[in-house]
Amino acid sequence: MSKPILISGTQPDGRLHLGNYLGAIKNWVELQNSEKYECYFIIVDYHSLTVDFNPTEKKEEVLGVVRAYLAAGIDPKKSKIFVQSRIPECTELAWILNTITPLGELERMTQFKEKSENKESVNTGLLTYPILMAADILLYDARFVPVGEDQLQHLELTRTLARKFNNKFGKTFIEPRAILSKASRVMSLDNPSKKMSKSHPETCLFLDDPPKDIEFKIKRAVTDSGSEVKFDLEKKPGVSNLLLIYEALSGITIPKLEKKYAGKGYGQFKSNLAEVAIKTLATFRESKFSDKKLKSILTNGAEKAKKIASSKMQVIKNRLGLRV
Ligand code: TYM
Repeated sequence: MSKPILISGTQPDGRLHLGNYLGAIKNWVELQNSEKYECYFIIVDYHSLTVDFNPTEKKEEVLGVVRAYLAAGIDPKKSKIFVQSRIPECTELAWILNTITPLGELERMTQFKEKSENKESVNTGLLTYPILMAADILLYDARFVPVGEDQLQHLELTRTLARKFNNKFGKTFIEPRAILSKASRVMSLDNPSKKMSKSHPETCLFLDDPPKDIEFKIKRAVTDSGSEVKFDLEKKPGVSNLLLIYEALSGITIPKLEKKYAGKGYGQFKSNLAEVAIKTLATFRESKFSDKKLKSILTNGAEKAKKIASSKMQVIKNRLGLRV
């Protein structure tokens, strides 16, 4: 029997950070290695056009994401790795899905609201972005989508669109389910009520940060009043975020960490966490893959994805009566 398909993706819009890794990519590697799924990992370059970007940097940003995937342990022999724009069927399907998406559903998306807040002018791509994401997922009949918590609303829309299309035109799409990691919402180091994001570089640990930056950022991370290293999301959100990060990086459970640092205060806890982060992230700083190798992985991945996408597109067009 064939394995269920699992899909996820990352935007090539700058350097990847700890939220991307602990919320998504680290989990992908474990799911890939479980051998229970047929895995597809996309570099969603069309998505990344929805924010300001520099065309001369885009190629390096795409390759940077592939490099991070490989450094994390995504294996091109086990998983398909490809760039979204190499599969035009994805944008074709996005157009079709546009026609069944209520505008109100897009306008209520939290990410759209956040990204368009206080902007004089907002591009339409920012609004329709979740439809493109739905196309990425539905095109390949994915059953599972491992993402961070911030993508759950988009995935819910994907399920709604699959259901709506199926009801209108006959069973065509699978309603995919999310898979969340334990650290599915890594918070900012200086404000534990906000998610870690590259838009605030000083409060975000990048995967390729040099050790001195990692140490500096963790040492100045916000902790809460008192001095006890204890997991309590309500009363101690700063320390709880650091504990979640520590657990995800080291594999040592939070109760064990609480015991280890009982009576020791924040200083030693932070300095040990910095050591663990420096050690774990070494793989990203030190990884060396030639551009040639990365490009050949992408060509290979795109060839395989293209075959699946074009045959699914035929089915979709048939359902819509578009094949004359
Ligand atoms: P993107 O590029 O913003 O983020 C990539 C992955 O990282 C997760 N993530 C986080 N997880 C925990 N804590 C954080 N602070 C944090 N920040 C980011 C995201 O949840 C995501 O899983 N729309 C998607 C990309 C996409 C996609 C897809 C994903 C396009 N098509 C199809 C799955 C399937 C995005 O912009 O992710």
